[in-house]
Amino acid sequence: MSRASIIAPSLLSADFARLGEDCLRAEAAGADWHHVDVMDGHFVPNLTIGPAVVRALARVLTLPLDVHLMITDPWTYGPKFLEAGAAGIGFHAELLVDDLARSDARTLLAEVERQGARRCIAINPATPVDVVRPWLDDLDMVLVMSVVPGFGGQAFMPDVLDKVRTLRDEYRFEGDIQMDGGISRETIGLCAEAGCNVFVAGSALYGASCMETEIDEFRRVVAEVAA
Ligand code: DX5
Ligand code: ZN
Repeated sequence: MSRASIIAPSLLSADFARLGEDCLRAEAAGADWHHVDVMDGHFVPNLTIGPAVVRALARVLTLPLDVHLMITDPWTYGPKFLEAGAAGIGFHAELLVDDLARSDARTLLAEVERQGARRCIAINPATPVDVVRPWLDDLDMVLVMSVVPGFGGQAFMPDVLDKVRTLRDEYRFEGDIQMDGGISRETIGLCAEAGCNVFVAGSALYGASCMETEIDEFRRVVAEVAA
């Protein structure tokens, strides 16, 4: 089965002093989505942006805003990001520790679907993939983290590729599988080979001397794997 390949530059590596302009540069370079890393200084030891910034970006950008919530309370803030213009909401599986959290998660997923946005659950490198198994029927995408979340520019962890294979070969998950962390022209082929079709890259794209050339190179490597 062939799935669309999506290249999603992470605006965490964009110039925050010129965020709108830098994201427009990603659009001109041929990106498919903007990946928006939201951090609360609690779930991860870093703080980034809130719904007000997403709302402002949604006014000037054309491509979908794929919001990755690295926060302990996506149940409260997820709907605010939706309202601000998010095209997709991802929250972390590590939060699903009790019945209350699982019930909040079901409510949020239903709301995301109701608004016509994309439902995603993310898993950290240390989290086993079977935690998402009971949720797969209600997800459009699984986000497999290939670095410990919190910061851009970290090295890709190849061990997580096994989770992608399990999702595709054993669980028969037909939705999108997104890889996030340390993606470059050197690592994207491994991800595609394992079964990923959505590729997030921060430093490798925003830090490239020519983002368009880099996105073209990403697509060339992915196409080569598919051939
Ligand atoms: C990490 C974020 C990633 C990050 C990726 O916590 O979720 O999206 O921006 O950055 P690179 O591609 O530089 O590893
Ligand atoms: Zn991310």
